[in-house]
Amino acid sequence: MTQNPTPIHESVREHYAAQARASQPCCGDSSSCCDSKNALYPVELLTNLPDDVASFSLGCGNPFAEAGLKPGETVLDLGSGGGLDCFLAAKQVGESGHVIGVDMTPEMLERARLAASRLGVRNVEFREGYLEKLPVEDASVDVVISNCVINLSPDKPQVFREVFRVLRSPDPVSGKPGGRLAVSDIVTDGPLPEELQKNMEAWGACVAGALDVSEYITGLADAGFTDVKVQPKGDASELIEAAGLKGKIFSAAITARRPL
Ligand SMILES: C[S@@+](CC[C@H](N)C(=O)[O-])C[C@H]1O[C@@H](n2cnc3c(N)ncnc32)[C@H](O)[C@@H]1O
Repeated sequence: MTQNPTPIHESVREHYAAQARASQPCCGDSSSCCDSKNALYPVELLTNLPDDVASFSLGCGNPFAEAGLKPGETVLDLGSGGGLDCFLAAKQVGESGHVIGVDMTPEMLERARLAASRLGVRNVEFREGYLEKLPVEDASVDVVISNCVINLSPDKPQVFREVFRVLRSPDPVSGKPGGRLAVSDIVTDGPLPEELQKNMEAWGACVAGALDVSEYITGLADAGFTDVKVQPKGDASELIEAAGLKGKIFSAAITARRPL
């Protein structure tokens, strides 16, 4: 971080620590043992994962629909939570690939590391850190994914600069293009009511901090990205209906690429 964690970080961390504690993993082996499902992903993506891992998702979309992960790639998941997206990415990049999950909430990291050891996955690691100061080397990542997290940051321009820093630049010798970003996030169509923007509970619920679509596009372009696209994907129903904001705030797939 360029500065200390803000009150928003503290409040968001408490919110997600409580979520991690409230939903404990339920088995010591990899058998299927819970009833809940995960509506964000096609079932075939979730095969061979224990139900308590597959269903512990706090995301708002399917970043893999746009990420196009390939064997051997290095993937970074921003705000990896219980680790589900890291495990799905790990299957797609295979043993020659590598996946790094970054999260600021120790309770989430603990849960994700426990699941990794139960699953026996060797190409995934979880690092404690902030999106605004990623514990990741410059130009070392092929693909940045994230699921419903960037809206929670109080300093989105800094997150976009950090994502740009860690993505690989294009290789003019091999012709390999620059690294790419493929995230699912909550966005808005116009500003939210000011009172709502200051409501900490609504920050934690991925509502109050959501960026306007045009600010998302400008923010990524200002950080240096090209091919920036924001595609609406749905209204993230319960969340939005609870806040009485149907049509004003929705889930989107956001993609961009690092140029030279
Ligand atoms: C809505 S949950 C999403 C978790 C996961 N991506 C998923 O789909 O289940 C948000 C996660 O991001 C983490 N987080 C929020 N803001 C963060 C920040 N500024 N830096 C690092 N992690 C953050 C939280 O600790 C939490 O685990």
